[in-house]
Amino acid sequence: MKRGASDRPGQGLTRGLTHYGDAGFSLYLRRSFARSMGYSRELLARPVVGIADSRSGFNNCHRHFPELIEAVKRGVLAAGGLPLDFPTVSLGEVFLAPTSMMFRNLMAMDVEEMVRAQPMDAVVLAGGCDKTVPAQLMGAASADVPAVQLLAGPMMPTSFRGERLGACTDCRRFWAQYRAGKVDERGIEEIEGNLATTAGTCAVMGTASTMAALAEALGMALPGTAAIPAVHADRLRAAEASGRRAAELARAPLRPSQVITARSVENALRVLLAIGGSTNAIVHLSAIAGRVGAKLELARLNELSDSTPVLVDLKPTGQHYMSDLHAAGGLGAVLRELEPLLHLDCMTVAGETLGERLAREAGAWVDRSVVRPFDEPFQKRGGLVALFGSLAPNGAIVKRSAADPALFEREGRAVVFASLDDLAARIDDPQLDVNADDFLVLQNAGPKSGAAMPEAGYLPIPAKLARAGVKDMVRISDARMSGTAYGTIVLHVSPEAAVGGPLALVRSGDRIRLSIERRRIDLLVGEEELARRRAAWRPGVPPSRGYAKLYMEHVLQAEHGCDFDFLRRA
Ligand code: FES
Repeated sequence: MKRGASDRPGQGLTRGLTHYGDAGFSLYLRRSFARSMGYSRELLARPVVGIADSRSGFNNCHRHFPELIEAVKRGVLAAGGLPLDFPTVSLGEVFLAPTSMMFRNLMAMDVEEMVRAQPMDAVVLAGGCDKTVPAQLMGAASADVPAVQLLAGPMMPTSFRGERLGACTDCRRFWAQYRAGKVDERGIEEIEGNLATTAGTCAVMGTASTMAALAEALGMALPGTAAIPAVHADRLRAAEASGRRAAELARAPLRPSQVITARSVENALRVLLAIGGSTNAIVHLSAIAGRVGAKLELARLNELSDSTPVLVDLKPTGQHYMSDLHAAGGLGAVLRELEPLLHLDCMTVAGETLGERLAREAGAWVDRSVVRPFDEPFQKRGGLVALFGSLAPNGAIVKRSAADPALFEREGRAVVFASLDDLAARIDDPQLDVNADDFLVLQNAGPKSGAAMPEAGYLPIPAKLARAGVKDMVRISDARMSGTAYGTIVLHVSPEAAVGGPLALVRSGDRIRLSIERRRIDLLVGEEELARRRAAWRPGVPPSRGYAKLYMEHVLQAEHGCDFDFLRRA
């Protein structure tokens, strides 16, 4: 075979040869087997661009990936690379038990190891559904091979009986109406068939859309690609461009560690606040930052939150959908409003700094009904704040932009549920001693609970109160919440109940004081009584085998992104 680019040691197919004790034999065998797939010598001599494909029959959000991956391939080929796709773990949010969160780190390990183990000079990461993008960014950051994040893009909303429906804020709204007896069986069945009607990720600013925006803000996705709907032709063009760019990066490497830095993480945090993004993104961004040795401090979140207005009018905080954000100017419109607050020297995978990008886009058209000007924001202060106090010494999160301000400064009586099973068994019991001013408390739903921190923090309003018209209550847990949900909900309480944190010691009838203004959440119980309860507390029985055992032994608390302790960079 004529010598070509891939004959240079460490490039293309010569990368990371399989060990047979004879490098020449290893390369000869690899080429021979690669040629068995019908590739020409010329193509096999090109730089290799891997395409991490997270399609699955269990992932509706990625059902358009076959077409998307074809577009990536033609971009790679056009730029002189050889595209080779490979499957990874896929995490279809609603198809996994106990929750997709348990498997995010498994997917991150899969991506990291397969990117490192297989001979590729760059990689396109095709993901979208909630945990897939964080997993891919975590894995790519650790493998540190040049990578471009290609996003699935959001679903389109549907027109249904004169109103627009889109997963999944509307899923929750109608389910709450059904629980309150305002929608009947036939109605909820009809709505079920109209909430998610196209390929792509949830149509609102949920976790998937938030992580897409953060991937672009970090500089890991090409400019302007975060909000393009999954079914829009621009999404295919973005895929082609991502493939083309990855092939360029294969020749002139720019590594994730040069893009994901403490400064770009802070940019992403600003964007998270300005878009009214998902609380889950705090956990994922902490995990991504941890892979490059950067730290996301919750105290810093509070500083940024007070100086970053919410600019985007999207559900669940506002009224529009992701497709409206794309039509309104996309994330670039948000970034330009935030420009004075951003670190403009951060490099992006496009090969330009953030500042260069924004200068290039200056004066672009923006729909101000969707993306507000900095001086006339949708909300004056950022959507998320961290709370600290005797109930959450290491922090908790509340999404104030999606909460009822009337509940922000309160003291209430705790109504405690000891587990998810206990919650399911008693929340709708007509005999439950609960009223609208109480604080609902859920224990044992954190990272080490056995349920792997499910999105259970959006505790349902007890049926008898929902029927009486109660729409929001203070709810506190060590769980997460779907980015599409809303309410006065305190999440990610740390340390969690399953490791004996103060949350484990709360009993029904205790008083709890919440102050969003002072960033405090305190359990008003004397130290002597707490010591008595602490002495009686017993941990659960850990799993004895498999991934569940690995997970339980190594998963960190929420403030460390729930990553595994051995995967973070010191
Ligand atoms: Fe995939 Fe919502 S279920 S993004």
